[in-house]
Amino acid sequence: MSKTISIGLPIASVLALLAVPGAAMASDAPSAAAATTAADPAKIERGRYLVTTSACNDCHTPWIEGPNGPEVDMSRMLSGHPESLPIPAMADMPAPWAIAATASNTAWLGPWGVSFTANLTPDDESGAATPGGHMFRETIRTGRHKGRGREVLPPMPIVMYRNFTDEDLEAIFSFLKSIPAVRNRVPEPLPPPQELAGTD
Ligand code: HEC
Repeated sequence: MSKTISIGLPIASVLALLAVPGAAMASDAPSAAAATTAADPAKIERGRYLVTTSACNDCHTPWIEGPNGPEVDMSRMLSGHPESLPIPAMADMPAPWAIAATASNTAWLGPWGVSFTANLTPDDESGAATPGGHMFRETIRTGRHKGRGREVLPPMPIVMYRNFTDEDLEAIFSFLKSIPAVRNRVPEPLPPPQELAGTD
């Protein structure tokens, strides 16, 4: 395989460093910190537009069975692959089938192994929309986990998202910081079955 996947990266290395209020709300006693982190409503709105038109919810919000078939569960908006949904051993697929997803549309099996969509909420322990906003831009620009780690795996459309401008990425990040935080620890990716079996 041309791609190596590191599993078991120290979790601490990817944890957010600091927590600041995600959405700076108007307050009776605004502090200096709140003033400097105050969110720009127009930027958030632009971010909402970009997130909803660029299909982030399709993969990062778990799907549930609704009255009219599968639909995204917006009560867990953009919180990634649910930690409560364990992934059983992977089965071989008959060619030409090569890629499969769980019913939640958050775990993906392919030649790269299994990838799990990230928690994009501002949860300070398990989310991506924490203060390291530059890392988010770096992730899209470099295609690397947290902007500097392993390669980000399919089907995250990194190559297409490189077409976002820095301004777009900032707006997306502002929106993500404004949404409800959901505590959900997404698992590390799994290597392809032959690597697990040690035959490759
Ligand atoms: C087709 C499915 C899909 C879509 C659409 C998608 N993602 Fe992802 N995304 C993934 C998967 C799968 C991962 C996990 C990849 C991995 O573990 O390497 C991921 C990971 C990420 C990460 C974490 C990257 C890292 O540092 O490891 C961020 C941030 C992210 N996506 C943001 C977004 C945003 C913002 C959008 C919409 C503009 C979006 N994604 C749309 C599937 C998708």
